[in-house]
Amino acid sequence: MSVTIKNPEEVEKIRIASLLATEVLNLLRSLVVAGVTTEHLNDVAHQHITQVQGGIPATLGYHGFPKSLCTSLNHQVCHGIPGSRILQNSDILNIDVTVIKDGWFGDTSAMYTVGTPSIRAQRLIDVTYEAMMRGIEAVRPGATLGDVGYAIQKTAEASGFSVVREYCGHGLGRNFHEEPQVLHYGKPGEGLILEPSMVFTIEPMINAGKKDIKLLNDGWTVVTKDRSLSAQWEHTVAVTETGVEILSGAAHPE
Ligand code: MF3
Ligand code: CO
Ligand code: CO
Repeated sequence: MSVTIKNPEEVEKIRIASLLATEVLNLLRSLVVAGVTTEHLNDVAHQHITQVQGGIPATLGYHGFPKSLCTSLNHQVCHGIPGSRILQNSDILNIDVTVIKDGWFGDTSAMYTVGTPSIRAQRLIDVTYEAMMRGIEAVRPGATLGDVGYAIQKTAEASGFSVVREYCGHGLGRNFHEEPQVLHYGKPGEGLILEPSMVFTIEPMINAGKKDIKLLNDGWTVVTKDRSLSAQWEHTVAVTETGVEILSGAAHPE
């Protein structure tokens, strides 16, 4: 399958689903406090998506994933499974929400801090956000995915952090994951040339230490090999005639 160009009605459907996912991220913000479990966050999100939004949590049952959110704590890179872990002071947490509405997908994630994070943890979160935004700012017709990856990699590495290579952004629409693969590293001018109405995510995973990762025995949770902290932000974006639109709106740090 190749990269699909969406028509304006299709982009609108993805915008709607993406804004619902952002609404969930915003709803959860006040609930991420010491003493709650990640399972509780999952349950609140599941209820809201299914009962209030009339949507479907895309991760639930996706290749057997058991929950309606991904919750990735501290040295977890992505695909953490909500469970009995109780949040505690200075934890950092990524929550990744994907909503299906009327058959269309929207995918976004954000970082949360519990109590007072370390200065280094907060810096990792802020640099990862900046890296995502630099990548988004590189999106316009005629630019390449290499330009996007380069912007992200340059931002992360300039702060001494590293870019996870094994997972990438992705096209989406009627499917969770479509072409193109959006690498979070690269070289200017290389890769796919962007055209208006392409829709994809940008979702860099940035490690405080080395880039290497490993998969836990649960078959899902990805962690840093050196157990250094990892952060991620994700937006769903569309290429416009003149630049880029963030379909998932502007969920930003605090
Ligand atoms: N939402 C993730 C992404 O950004 C995918 C999660 S798939 C799951 O692509 F199976 F781990 F839930
Ligand atoms: Co995604
Ligand atoms: Co996601």
